[in-house]
Amino acid sequence: PTFHAFLRALPKCEHHMHLEGALRPHILFQLASKNNITLPQDDEAFASPESLLSRYQRFTSLDDFLHYYYIGMSVLITASDFEDLAWDYFLHASADGVAHAEVFFDPQAHVVRAVTYSTVVDGFSRACKRAESELGITTILTSCFLRHLPVQESLDLFDDEEVQKSYRDGTVTGIGLDSSEMDFPPELFVELFAKARKQGLNLTAHAGEEAPASYIATAVSDLRVTRIDHGIALPSSPDLLSQIAASKMLLTVCPLSNVVLRCVDTIADVPIRKLLDAGVQFSINSDDPAYFGGHCLDNHVAVHEAFDLSVDEWVGIVRAGIEGSWCATERKGELL
Ligand code: ADE
Ligand code: ZN
Repeated sequence: PTFHAFLRALPKCEHHMHLEGALRPHILFQLASKNNITLPQDDEAFASPESLLSRYQRFTSLDDFLHYYYIGMSVLITASDFEDLAWDYFLHASADGVAHAEVFFDPQAHVVRAVTYSTVVDGFSRACKRAESELGITTILTSCFLRHLPVQESLDLFDDEEVQKSYRDGTVTGIGLDSSEMDFPPELFVELFAKARKQGLNLTAHAGEEAPASYIATAVSDLRVTRIDHGIALPSSPDLLSQIAASKMLLTVCPLSNVVLRCVDTIADVPIRKLLDAGVQFSINSDDPAYFGGHCLDNHVAVHEAFDLSVDEWVGIVRAGIEGSWCATERKGELL
């Protein structure tokens, strides 16, 4: 119990949380009803919030999860829907002792349903402003591109005037790459990342979640990301492991996600000890808290139970998260 309080009190930074992944089943059903969205009737998982939640405990892979994730977010229509969703997450984050939250969203999954980019960003950014003023959590919004869709669609969205405006005015300050990983290697998106880099945006990509370490290598070499999301395949490549350690690049590890999506068997199989021994900087994150059964603090507790880390090791992990954040230097100083 005292260690729980210690983990809660640490000034944690969350770097890997998809806002759409904070949509809890009972809210999903409420929004479906409010917005007249018909959920799939040929899948008994959608019979009730309870049956949906129990289906989440039986994911078989990343793609099996993504199927439910994209259906789930189809109930989000108005700016207030997006604002309420993000606010629900920020309340959890605050209760967990998260001091700074860098959150992802998936614009392509909304614009294909004729929900405009501005609707999504207006709602999310309102919740971010509220989190800053009412909860004292600093926030950063990152737009992720979906790697299972044609590359040209990501380039077209990136060039869209509404999207460009959100980058220019600083509402959204970075890009990421997510969705189905296998067979969609980072190098497919080299043009998108080169453009974003030229505009001074922060760059990250999911890599080495289900796919091998070579995906981490090309995210770094070809996309020139400054962060890797997941990256649990890294220890399988000793050369890359020492290269990433030397670069001080941050890995955003999501232990409960890795178990629920069957990337590893148990939390003890997440390579926490190997990353620590190699001197790799990493943070501990929730990924999609409503789907994987835990928020940021639950992930820290799970790691502690599996690895019995020392106080110094935890202080070092949280410090790496602060240093690897994309917030202003002044804010880092406050958190350190
Ligand atoms: N989108 C939301 N969560 C994701 C994950 N864990 N991997 C890839 N894409 C995602
Ligand atoms: Zn993710």
